[in-house]
Amino acid sequence: MLLHFIICVTMVVEGATTNNIAKPGCPTQCRNITVPYPFGIGTDCSLDESYSTICNTSYEPPKLFPTSGDLEVYNISDSEVRLATLVSYVCYNQSGFVDGVISGIDLRKHKVYTFSVKNKFTVIGCDDYALINGTDKDDFTSGCFGLCRKKPNVPYGQCSGIGCCQISIPKGLTYYDATLNTLRNHSDVLSFNECGYGFLVEEGSFKFSGATDLSADYTDFVKRIESTIPIVLDWVIAPNGTCADGNECKGNSTCYNVEGGGYRCKCENGYEGNPYLDHGCQDIDECNNQGTNPCHGVCINTLGGYNCTCLPGFYGDAYIKKGCEPIDTKDSNWSSPKYMIVMVSSMFTILAGIAGMCFGIRKRKLIRLREKFFEQNGGLLLKQKIKSQQSNEAMTLFSIEQLRKATNNYAQEKIIGKGAYGVVYKGVLLDKRVVAIKKSKLVDATQAEQFINEVMILTRVIHRNVVKLLGCCLEEEVPVLVYEFISNNTLFNHIHHRLGGMDWLSWENRLRVASEAASALAYLHSEISLPIIHRDVKSTNILLDENYTAKISDFGASRLVPLDHEQVTTLIQGTLGYLDPEYFNSSQLTEKSDVYSFGVVLAELITGKKPIGADRTNEEKNLATYFVNSVTGNRLFEIVEPRILREGTLEQLQEVGDLLKRCLSLVGRDRPTMKEVAVELDGLRKFTTHPWVQRETYSETKSSVLESVQSDLYEIPLIYGTNEWESYSGITDMVLKENNTR
Ligand SMILES: *[C@@H]1O[C@H](CO)[C@@H](O)[C@H](O)[C@H]1NC(C)=O
Ligand SMILES: *[C@@H]1O[C@H](CO)[C@@H](O)[C@H](O)[C@H]1NC(C)=O
Ligand SMILES: *[C@@H]1O[C@H](CO)[C@@H](O)[C@H](O)[C@H]1NC(C)=O
Ligand SMILES: *[C@@H]1O[C@H](CO)[C@@H](O)[C@H](O)[C@H]1NC(C)=O
Ligand SMILES: *[C@@H]1O[C@H](CO)[C@@H](O)[C@H](O)[C@H]1NC(C)=O
Ligand SMILES: *[C@@H]1O[C@H](CO)[C@@H](O)[C@H](O)[C@H]1NC(C)=O
Ligand SMILES: *[C@@H]1O[C@H](CO)[C@@H](O)[C@H](O)[C@H]1NC(C)=O
Ligand SMILES: *[C@@H]1O[C@H](CO)[C@@H](O)[C@H](O)[C@H]1NC(C)=O
Ligand SMILES: *[C@@H]1O[C@H](CO)[C@@H](O)[C@H](O)[C@H]1NC(C)=O
Repeated sequence: MLLHFIICVTMVVEGATTNNIAKPGCPTQCRNITVPYPFGIGTDCSLDESYSTICNTSYEPPKLFPTSGDLEVYNISDSEVRLATLVSYVCYNQSGFVDGVISGIDLRKHKVYTFSVKNKFTVIGCDDYALINGTDKDDFTSGCFGLCRKKPNVPYGQCSGIGCCQISIPKGLTYYDATLNTLRNHSDVLSFNECGYGFLVEEGSFKFSGATDLSADYTDFVKRIESTIPIVLDWVIAPNGTCADGNECKGNSTCYNVEGGGYRCKCENGYEGNPYLDHGCQDIDECNNQGTNPCHGVCINTLGGYNCTCLPGFYGDAYIKKGCEPIDTKDSNWSSPKYMIVMVSSMFTILAGIAGMCFGIRKRKLIRLREKFFEQNGGLLLKQKIKSQQSNEAMTLFSIEQLRKATNNYAQEKIIGKGAYGVVYKGVLLDKRVVAIKKSKLVDATQAEQFINEVMILTRVIHRNVVKLLGCCLEEEVPVLVYEFISNNTLFNHIHHRLGGMDWLSWENRLRVASEAASALAYLHSEISLPIIHRDVKSTNILLDENYTAKISDFGASRLVPLDHEQVTTLIQGTLGYLDPEYFNSSQLTEKSDVYSFGVVLAELITGKKPIGADRTNEEKNLATYFVNSVTGNRLFEIVEPRILREGTLEQLQEVGDLLKRCLSLVGRDRPTMKEVAVELDGLRKFTTHPWVQRETYSETKSSVLESVQSDLYEIPLIYGTNEWESYSGITDMVLKENNTR
């Protein structure tokens, strides 16, 4: 049965996601270098021999070479090839000439390449001039002087003329060589510069290091340039032809002529992929990439574009920020959430003022009150427990003043989230630590022991993927909890609300987050003396920190399982869409309930769909059911988010699909343990590949992403009024729910 399933999926995949990088049946990568058609690795994999390459595996790691050439290829893009360059040099000592080499590169055999004008001819030396002698349509000769008198004080990283000189080359060059000449055999500068160098490299890729480079050992210097700094070649198809002569451009792509001869193909606007392959260009799902395709409303992908309209009840231009306005009703201004908040908060302020005047609270009374709260909130019990555990470095009892100072007396602007169960403030402690401070709503005194138990669970769990509870304050009327501050929003928002420029969470990152969350849950289940069942695993309870590291939060519903019990009977709790149906029916809580909920999170990660989809039909409303049905009906690859299809490998998607099906099994016994899930996910991460379409790497965009995400953090909870930070609602969440059931 299982085998059957895998075979069917494989067939679907080959139909649905044609390999649109290399020619079908050909390798796509040599080490980590992607080789897109018309290029190819090996015979018969390229358009013709000009584009043919060899991946030589006798090197470790393997190296890519042109079939007829010995300069290593670094990368291949849709119009350029970068490869290793060659250096000409000449060296002297007191007795005169020591060593020297004249080098050049000849592309005339491969008619499809020319040297890009992005290259600069570069001369390094203090007593040198180099001549570059080349051929484009005519012969070309030029030269450049590297001169200096004293040990130069050149600004690091700048080729300004002193000791380093750069000139441009003409377009269409297909051959060059570089000859070095000296004025005085370096006799005046031998103390700090014995050699001169000349080479052609991509502009900006070579950073001149001033005196260090001038006095460097010449074999080291030449080796460094020849093995790390690229030269750029332009490539075309049919160098003596044009688009009109008939071309290689396939469906959804267009042909354009290249100045100087030949043509290239590119996907039409709104499509991406390899234009030289059949079905190579596929529609871009712009709605999945809000960064470059902003939509501040409802985004609908179309062939070659996308439509963006305002949310229901709004009108205007949703393509621009703040472009939508509410459809006018008489007092619309006063019913908007912003005004509500202003009104409510000013009413509170007035009430508080009146209360303060009426009661004229005196300090003595206050202290007595605090002591009462401390007792009522279980402070004595907690103190006892801390004493008996003798590990109080894990848990701090904060004073009322400390936390008021940290939050500017619980100021409005410090609010980062409001949930049904309380308010979360961002605060800065005296020691500069940034924390999230959760002030819960009223709590029943009889729940104190339970509350303390939960606090103790959290302080015992020390795992890098679990949000850390730093401590609490019991002197306020309600318990106040202090957590480490996690800056980068919830996984839920990363998957579903990429408004305001939040970056796309790549497949690689998704896998990592999943694997981190799984290992944290596995740890909770099995690695501490008393297993903990989380009971409310969902994407809003997985927070991401500034490095996109996953942090599990909200242990409000969690339960300790005594060692001699496999399962415990409890009040049913959880979140619709994530709730284990077996637990729902039987009230028997086991670790496998967390596995089910985690499966739903994994399904969100791979499909980009919400656990309950209002836009889906009855049977498919529930993502878990929808997913399992699709896998069973061999339609897995229809519901996987298109961008994931491109970013992930086949093996990964199949395995995740299979793993998910097991996690979402209706019978708990058939589900894998969290530990097994974690191990499998970790194994899968080793398969990642690099897609044909290059994207900015995470590190390049990180800082800007962080800025926009952070402003989101403050906006979303207030405007949408949802429990974005429910994650921090933790302990009292549970207390309240049970309180209500009395
Ligand atoms: C490819 O791997 C090399 C090391 O093996 C690394 O220096 C380089 O940055 C990698 N390139 C890409 C595009 O990942
Ligand atoms: C790979 O490189 C080694 C060492 O340079 C060379 O001897 C060998 O012929 C190369 N193999 C291929 C297939 O070109
Ligand atoms: C190729 O290398 C250049 C410079 O090293 C880099 O800017 C570019 O993004 C790379 N392109 C690909 C397709 O790897
Ligand atoms: C100069 O270099 C040559 C060749 O390496 C060597 O034979 C000679 O001794 C060197 N002279 C001095 C003064 O270092
Ligand atoms: C340039 O180099 C070529 C090949 O070495 C040579 O035939 C030609 O005469 C040189 N031209 C000049 C202007 O030096
Ligand atoms: C440079 O050295 C060469 C021999 O290596 C010699 O013939 C020539 O005269 C020297 N030139 C100067 C300016 O020292
Ligand atoms: C381009 O040149 C090649 C030989 O160099 C020749 O076989 C081919 O017919 C030419 N194509 C056109 C369109 O002129
Ligand atoms: C053009 O793009 C559409 C949408 O991605 C795709 O279904 C179709 O197969 C493509 N056509 C060709 C000829 O590749
Ligand atoms: C997109 O918008 C255009 C014009 O506003 C409309 O004609 C078209 O039907 C829309 N397409 C979809 C899929 O909504």
